[in-house]
Amino acid sequence: MTITITTPLYYVNDKPHLGSTYTTIACDAFARYKKLNGNNVVFITGVDEHGQKIERTAKANNISPSDHCSKIASQYEMLWKKWSISNDKFIRTTSSQHKTLVEKFFHRVDQNGDIRLGRQQGWYCVGCEEYKDDPPGAKDPICSTHKMPLEWRDEENLFFCLSKYQTKIENLISQPNFVQPISRRNEIINFVSKGLKDFSISRVNISWGIPVPGFKGHTFYVWFDALLGYLSGLQTKGEVELDELNNYGWPADVHVIGKDILRFHAVYWPAMLMSAGLDLPHRVFGHGFLTREGNKMGKSLGNVLDPELLLDKYGEDPVRWYLLSDIKFGQDGDFQEKRFIDLTNNDLANTIGNLLNRTSSMSRKWFSNCVPNIHKENENNELKLLASKTISDVINYYEQLSFKEACKAILDLASSSNLYLNDNEPWKLIKQNSERELVSYHLYNVLESCRIVATLIAPVLPNLSRKILNQLGFFDSLQSWEHQLVWGVLEKGQELPEPSPIIPRLE
Ligand code: MSP
Repeated sequence: MTITITTPLYYVNDKPHLGSTYTTIACDAFARYKKLNGNNVVFITGVDEHGQKIERTAKANNISPSDHCSKIASQYEMLWKKWSISNDKFIRTTSSQHKTLVEKFFHRVDQNGDIRLGRQQGWYCVGCEEYKDDPPGAKDPICSTHKMPLEWRDEENLFFCLSKYQTKIENLISQPNFVQPISRRNEIINFVSKGLKDFSISRVNISWGIPVPGFKGHTFYVWFDALLGYLSGLQTKGEVELDELNNYGWPADVHVIGKDILRFHAVYWPAMLMSAGLDLPHRVFGHGFLTREGNKMGKSLGNVLDPELLLDKYGEDPVRWYLLSDIKFGQDGDFQEKRFIDLTNNDLANTIGNLLNRTSSMSRKWFSNCVPNIHKENENNELKLLASKTISDVINYYEQLSFKEACKAILDLASSSNLYLNDNEPWKLIKQNSERELVSYHLYNVLESCRIVATLIAPVLPNLSRKILNQLGFFDSLQSWEHQLVWGVLEKGQELPEPSPIIPRLE
């Protein structure tokens, strides 16, 4: 089965920030999980390049919109490579295949009678690229997100007849899993209950967009164009007919997005797909916003966390661990440096790192640099039982994008393994020759538990997982969980390589 996972297509008005990195890392973890769990995955990310915001940014930088877009798009691509993001596709909405798909899609929707000309009047935020329903302050209103003045617009636009889809959208969002998490679902139900209005899908006097066929002077509204990137991104070679997209991974299993763009994904987008007669995505997951030390991040505040600098300073494991293990996915989260350092040291360096170090060094010292040879690994013991429960819990958590819960369950297995060592005190037992068999047994159990920890943590911390598996003597990269998530895979007598630190402590 093909599982398609998407990040939003990021605006290229500025270089990548921690918000887009957060979504991308979460999707990466989910995509890695799905791949390891035996699925064929199409993981799409990319950039959203049209619209007035981009046009103005390019102008302010004195370069052409197309050069500006290429520059920022390549920064995104390079950043994702640096973070080892496992995306299969990177879509640019300025590509010719995207343009063709947008035209075909528009034609379908138009044929279905869902396009009309009309007059659009209202307050517009260029930062959001969105008309505001009810701007605060009648005179000179300001966008509550961007803190910038809204602009009054009065123009002839093409409209998509969203109002026709009221009942269908109500039915869709009342399904228990379409909008996740539950708090976001309630927000959307509330929005839709107020009545859906037709929305404008074209702009006049904006040249940086895809021209609407048959309507001179109109370009497509950036959101109409951008959402279609999820379809054009699936095309591998050249153009694909809309109805063939099912052979390329449509419908998406999940669109992961930030809470600010939920309406577009949970209401406008499904209605557009219904109109074109295409299948709907299975779910839309709206995650929360990140703040820094309790404050909103912003250029003007000078407190933006640059994902590239963060990576250079700390490496990928600590940052991924913090973002996915500490923040409940779906809720807002705060980046606090002290807490970040504490979590890295406590969870990764102490609980997981030390467990591996002390167990492998005891094995190396007392068993000639090898995994101890034992004869009774099939016996049930507390670690084997806990590992088997952890495996099924963690799979359930990953399935629901509950990364925090998955990380906690894995960490609990590592903590219990540390306790198991403390309780059984192999360092005392080894002093009696008669207990050597028992020492082998305990060390084998803990090493095997480390292997399961490393295997389960691979979606969240692929780098750390690989390092742990290397230390246990596994050098082939982990491709699949099939045959790996069972107790006893660690070879008895397997040689253990020279130890090397897997996660440095942070000061
Ligand atoms: N181009 C549109 C998406 C089109 S999808 C077909 C867009 N782009 S964006 O670059 O402005 O935002 C991309 C994502 O970053 C959104 O999901 C948004 O929620 C997220 N974030 C922006 N700031 C954020 C934080 N401070 N924290 C977490 N995510 C945030 O919207």
